[in-house]
Amino acid sequence: MNNNTKKVNPLNKSLKGNFKVPSDKSISHRAAMFASLVKQPVLISNFSLGADCKSTLGFLEQLGVEINFQSKNNLIINNKEGFKEPKNILDAGNSGTTIRLMSGILAGQNFYSVLTGDDSLRKRPMARVINPLKEMGANIWARDNDTKAPLSIKGVNLHEINYNSPVASAQIKSCILLAGLHSDGTTTVTEPVKSRDHTERMLAYLNADIKNSGTSVEIRKSELFSKSITIPGDISSAAFFMVAGAIIPGSEIIIQDVGLNPTRTGIIDVLKQMGAEIEILNLRTDCNEEIGDVKISYSDLKAITIDEDIIPRIIDEIPIIAVAATQAEGTTIIKGASELRHKESDRIKAVYTELKKLSAEIEEQPDGFIIHGKTKLKGGCTLETYHDHRIAMSGYIAGLISDSPIEINEFHWVNISFPEFTSIFERLSQG
Ligand code: S3P
Repeated sequence: MNNNTKKVNPLNKSLKGNFKVPSDKSISHRAAMFASLVKQPVLISNFSLGADCKSTLGFLEQLGVEINFQSKNNLIINNKEGFKEPKNILDAGNSGTTIRLMSGILAGQNFYSVLTGDDSLRKRPMARVINPLKEMGANIWARDNDTKAPLSIKGVNLHEINYNSPVASAQIKSCILLAGLHSDGTTTVTEPVKSRDHTERMLAYLNADIKNSGTSVEIRKSELFSKSITIPGDISSAAFFMVAGAIIPGSEIIIQDVGLNPTRTGIIDVLKQMGAEIEILNLRTDCNEEIGDVKISYSDLKAITIDEDIIPRIIDEIPIIAVAATQAEGTTIIKGASELRHKESDRIKAVYTELKKLSAEIEEQPDGFIIHGKTKLKGGCTLETYHDHRIAMSGYIAGLISDSPIEINEFHWVNISFPEFTSIFERLSQG
C-alpha cells in the first residue's frame, strides 16, 4: 500500500447522482471461503477487490485452491482436490474475518498451518475463537497465552459443541459454524443479540443442514453444492455516502444494488430515527440476500439515543454515525458499543480523538460516546487513520463539512474496503 496524506477541502456543493459502492466485504470473504468447501467449481460475481478480500484469496491460494478471474470482479473458485498443507505462513493482513473464519475451517483439516496478520490484527483478541475451537477438540496455540495471533493449528477431527457466545459477533459465530460443518453431531451457537447472518444464509443457499431459531443457529455435517454466487454492494461502504447525503445541504443521491440484509440495515434505521429522508427502491432477493437501491436526501437531523440492542446491526457504521451526530440538533448518546475497542483500531478512542481535533463536542465513554450538536466543525488540522479504513473515511466526510481544509495522514488505509472512495465523491460533487 502507498503511504499518502490526503487533503480534504470543505465541499461547497451538494452531492447529486446515482452510483454503486464496492461489493460487500463480509459476503465476499464468505463466498470465496465457502466456494472452496465445494467439490465442484463455483462462479462468484461482483467480488470485492479491497485488500481484506485479497487476503482471503491469498490464504486460499496457499492452501492449493485454484482461483481464476474471468473478468475484473468475477472469478471461479475450484478446490476439487481439497485443501493442501500450506508451505508457508498464512498472512491475513488487516482482516479479522479472514483469520477468524479460516481458523474454523483449518481446525478440522488434517495438516499444520500458521496464521498471522499485520500489526493491528496481531493485537486483536483471538481467544474468542481459540477457546470454543479447543472445546471442540482443536489443537490450536497462539501467542500471549493463546490470545493473540500468530496462531498455529494442527487439524484434527472435531466434535460438536453447544456454545453460548459471550459476545454478539458474526466472526465468532461463523468460525464455530464452519468448524461444526465438518464435525460429528450437531453444533449450536447462541449469541446475546443476533449478529450479521451472511454465513447462515450462504451455507443454507449452498445446501448445508443449518437452522436458525431466535439468536441460536445449529449446523450438522453436510456436503455443499455448487451454485453461482452474486455479491451485493456493501451497506457499510454505502453508509459513508448515506451520512454525507444527509448532512451536505442540497444533496440527493441514489446508491444502487446495496445489500439490505436486515442484520446490517441498522444504519438506515438510525438515520431515519434522526430524521433523515431515506427511501428503499427496487427491493429484491438474490442468492438468499436482500438487495435494493437507497435514495437519500439532505435533511435536518436530530439527536437520538442508540443502545446495545441495535449495536450488532451498526457495528461498523458507528464512526460515521458519530460524524452525523455532530450535525444533529441535541445530545446523541451511543452506548453498549465496547466491542468497538477491538476493531481495526480502538474506534472509540480514535473517533473521540479525531473529532475533538475538529472541535466537535464529544465525550468518550467506556462503551461509546456522548455527542452534542449541532457543531460547525473547524478544519485546519491533520487527522490520523490509526491504520483503520473506517476511521479514514469518517475523517474524510468530517473534512467535507469543516470550515477550512484538513489533511488526513496515511489515507491509503481506505483501500482495505473501498479503493474507489474518493473518486466516487469527486464525481458526485461535480454535477
Ligand atoms: C464481520 C463481523 C463484524 C464486523 C466486521 C466483519 C464479519 O466483526 O465488525 O467488520 O464479516 O463477520 P465481529 O464479528 O468481531 O463483530
